[in-house]
Amino acid sequence: MDFAPFIHTELPGPLATKAIALDRRFTSPSYTRYIPLCVKSASMCTVEDLDGNRFLDFTAGIAVNNCGHCHPAIVEAVRDQAGKLLHMCGSDYYNQPQADLASRLCNLWPGPSPTRVFFTNSGAESIEGAFKLARYHTGRQRVIAFLGAFHGRTFGALSLTASRIMQRAHFAPLVPEVEHVPYGDVKYISEQLFKRTVPPDEVAAIFVEPLQGEGGYIIPPKQFLPNLRALCDEHGILLVADEVQSGFGRTGKMFCIEHYGVEPDILCLAKGIASGLPLGAMVAKESVMDWKEGAHGSTFGGNPVSCRAALASIDLIEREYMANARGVGDFMIARLNAMRAEFPEHIGEVRGMGLMIGMDIINDSTSMRPARVLRDKIVDDAYYHGLLLLGCGEATIRFCPPLCITQDEAARGIDLLADIIKSK
Ligand SMILES: Cc1ncc(COP(=O)(O)O)c(C=O)c1O
Repeated sequence: MDFAPFIHTELPGPLATKAIALDRRFTSPSYTRYIPLCVKSASMCTVEDLDGNRFLDFTAGIAVNNCGHCHPAIVEAVRDQAGKLLHMCGSDYYNQPQADLASRLCNLWPGPSPTRVFFTNSGAESIEGAFKLARYHTGRQRVIAFLGAFHGRTFGALSLTASRIMQRAHFAPLVPEVEHVPYGDVKYISEQLFKRTVPPDEVAAIFVEPLQGEGGYIIPPKQFLPNLRALCDEHGILLVADEVQSGFGRTGKMFCIEHYGVEPDILCLAKGIASGLPLGAMVAKESVMDWKEGAHGSTFGGNPVSCRAALASIDLIEREYMANARGVGDFMIARLNAMRAEFPEHIGEVRGMGLMIGMDIINDSTSMRPARVLRDKIVDDAYYHGLLLLGCGEATIRFCPPLCITQDEAARGIDLLADIIKSK
């Protein structure tokens, strides 16, 4: 695909305007399409709309297309598998790609324990599976999650989510006995929760994002995860790492939790697992995944086409893109920090690991108050200039481009962003 950005019509152009009108007439109003982008095709880090406008993609379809859009090796694996077997229900029968991927994921497990895999179709389903397994295995009912967390939208996952109020409003009652505590604060759990309201021996699991995603790309204190592990061990609680967004090389390691040397009991995966095809997985220590035949299942989970895409994607991530995420990630953080020095009145903190980077937009450098309206305006303007960005948290711009992004593409996007911020 040719050079991006390249904008040659009004945005949205005439074809996109028509398609968007059709979509809006017939789809759920709950979708949050802030930007009128209607994608026709995409390749690596470039996305083309129906009218032939090209955008540089710093979102990777929300941290999904880890190997870029339509990477030829993934497309080839999908084509090959699609001509052989599309579906046969992995819960009832066996298929080779599912078995291959299960064994591959168990080999990638961040720790010494033997593990097993339950396949799902999405992040929320991986979380649901972990929630059910935690109750099943421990015989306990309560769970703990963190303020700011996003774990998905189904009832169990939503009960753990504490990101934005609109995500929970009007859906009560949710799953009971879920406690939310401040992110990064183990002491609060041990010294407040466990002493005043929640008996620790009634807690089945603690769900944690090793790097909080939707909540604002927040990196916890270095000792947070090791201390959380120790607390779980002390009370027989399962530690569930939600790496739906941070997994598969995004932070420069296969899983973010590896930065902390902590082995979880359960790992929830989706998004980047198959670099664009729908798939998720819940991986658990073999000693934990002790539920009996029939206790849990899924019609589509472990779809052979998605599994082949995942195998091809993991190959690429291991071979080159994880290292690229580290290199280009460091480059982007340095460039964004330089931009911050230039515009201290608009840019607060820049933080990140690999290609999971957040930059806070603020009202002024004295109060450092989050500037949500300005953040939204910057993200919006970027689209009109051919750069796709996303917000997260209160007023953070997130950068989660495909892991194949080149330094040149990263620099091009950041230069464009600098021009936009300069104009504010
Ligand atoms: C950390 C995390 N967990 C779970 C989910 C839910 O994933 P899905 O939208 O595939 O259900 C998300 C989605 O953004 C996520 O970022």
